[in-house]
Amino acid sequence: MSENIVGVTPEFFILADLYKPFDLAELFKNENSVELEIGAGRGDFAVEYCADHPDVNLIAVERKLNYLKRGINKAKQRDLSNIRFMNVEVQHFLEEYIERESLQAAHIYFPDPWPKKKQKKRRIVQLQLIKMLSERIVSGGHLHLRTDHADYFEQMMAVMAEQDWFEVVETPEKVSRYKTGFERRFVADGLPIFYASYRRVSVKSA
Ligand SMILES: C[S@@+](CC[C@H](N)C(=O)[O-])C[C@H]1O[C@@H](n2cnc3c(N)ncnc32)[C@H](O)[C@@H]1O
Repeated sequence: MSENIVGVTPEFFILADLYKPFDLAELFKNENSVELEIGAGRGDFAVEYCADHPDVNLIAVERKLNYLKRGINKAKQRDLSNIRFMNVEVQHFLEEYIERESLQAAHIYFPDPWPKKKQKKRRIVQLQLIKMLSERIVSGGHLHLRTDHADYFEQMMAVMAEQDWFEVVETPEKVSRYKTGFERRFVADGLPIFYASYRRVSVKSA
């Protein structure tokens, strides 16, 4: 029996609140499937998506506390019980706390583009992160990507072409309907938005 996971508030957690093994059913107080949003910003997608899908549990990871607080406040105003905000760095969180085949989906929307050539290695959508996600997303689960940045989208496509853990699928309306904070601004500015979605398949070879 695990000890109770106690956050700063019922919906907000920092690294010091987490322990291993990290029990997702204990975190959400139910057995519903769990999705992850990486770099959730001010929580616009997370809050709207969770409000309309009470049967989905969502962990919204964001390393900037001032952004995260905005999402926490929105979730409180909506009285949402199916969302948990984590003020953590996502790679560390995944590696240390999220067990294999425990996520139904991951959402990565408008990750920092790091546009300068020298900075590109800081982009989070790299094969290493996709591999980590492939190990943690259940077979048949989904990975959703969005960006306004054509060069980053090209990189995303190149990374996804390198792997065989995920196959391309259409982005379901259940997901595309919900926009992020950055997305609303980019759409208002008339910028094109690139979407890509994938389904976890069984690994063909070890
Ligand atoms: C450009 S913003 C997009 C925010 C939101 N997804 C949106 O579309 O409105 C990217 C966010 O990812 C967060 N982020 C970047 N790297 C991260 C990491 N390694 N772990 C957690 N959050 C990260 C940043 O702090 C930033 O808030």
